[in-house]
Amino acid sequence: MTLLVLGAGGLLGSSLVRHCLERSIDVAGTYHSTAPAFDIQLENHDIRNTAAFQSLLDEHRPDTVVNCAALTDVDECESRRERAFEVNGDAPGELATACVKRDVQFVHISTDYVFDGNTTEPYDETVTPSPIQVYGESKLEGEKAVRSASRDTLVTRLSFVYGVRGDTNELIGFPAWVRNTLQAEEKVPLFVDQHLTPTRAGQAVTTVLDLLEQGATGTYHIACRSCVTPYEFGKEIAGLQGKGEELVAKSTRSAVTRDADRPAYTCLDVGAVETELGRPQPTLTEDLQNIGEKLAV
Ligand SMILES: NC(=O)c1ccc[n+]([C@@H]2O[C@H](COP(=O)([O-])OP(=O)(O)OC[C@H]3O[C@@H](n4cnc5c(N)ncnc54)[C@H](OP(=O)(O)O)[C@@H]3O)[C@@H](O)[C@H]2O)c1
Repeated sequence: MTLLVLGAGGLLGSSLVRHCLERSIDVAGTYHSTAPAFDIQLENHDIRNTAAFQSLLDEHRPDTVVNCAALTDVDECESRRERAFEVNGDAPGELATACVKRDVQFVHISTDYVFDGNTTEPYDETVTPSPIQVYGESKLEGEKAVRSASRDTLVTRLSFVYGVRGDTNELIGFPAWVRNTLQAEEKVPLFVDQHLTPTRAGQAVTTVLDLLEQGATGTYHIACRSCVTPYEFGKEIAGLQGKGEELVAKSTRSAVTRDADRPAYTCLDVGAVETELGRPQPTLTEDLQNIGEKLAV
């Protein structure tokens, strides 16, 4: 496999590059504002520039492109609606179309925020999305555009992504924030009225590579098997850290004011990917044990 990672400067993209290198997959990448520290071919690229992307395809001749680039700041998307739709909605369709024309497999990364959260049962891939904020709307447009380029593309939805950057080995996301706050011996107020299935970046990219090796196409949810509140997530982190569990406090979403609404419940049903790969997705505890050395004090 010869793979081109779009958004190799982000958490997921850098993790994907790292896992490709570990599997001896021939990999190149693109970045937006800051180049990741990898000794591979890296190009500065804005995914909205379709002409430049076509040149990249001609130059690198990948057999697979994985789009990890996106405008991921959910609140920023509210105030930058046009840009959100350009980056998350239009560009993925253009990228997929260019790949399909060259017989290159295209993988797109999407989100649990395409759902409205008005449920108490994990969402499987057959549920019709109904986003409640600009980020989710723009990501849903991206999914649709990719599928209309070809049904043989692969679209994966992740939830509440955290993990270790592939280049710097730095822990990013919710567990890093909880760890740092507890280490500062400050209180950590966490929501008890939101449910999600956190996705560890390293496990997500492993799953994507396994799906690719198997020739899977269509839409798959990739996440841990545990549907938890941020409060329960934080408690597990504090437990592994061995310090500060008493500082983890219950809070509710109404305690904070943010530009974008968050769905109350976006747990993902991971049954389809488990059936496809013939193995279970990890529990949250297993995922956290994987990054245990980053949490221990
Ligand atoms: N983070 C989550 O909780 C979460 C949850 C579900 C799904 N996802 C999805 O997972 C994927 C990966 O997200 P992540 O967590 O790795 O986020 P991330 O660390 O923010 O990475 C996204 C990358 O996209 C780049 N980017 C932004 N605009 C771009 C543009 N116009 N052209 C090219 N690159 C651009 C960013 O570069 P700059 O920073 O330099 O602009 C950044 O490196 C995204 O599709 C996201 O929607 C994320």
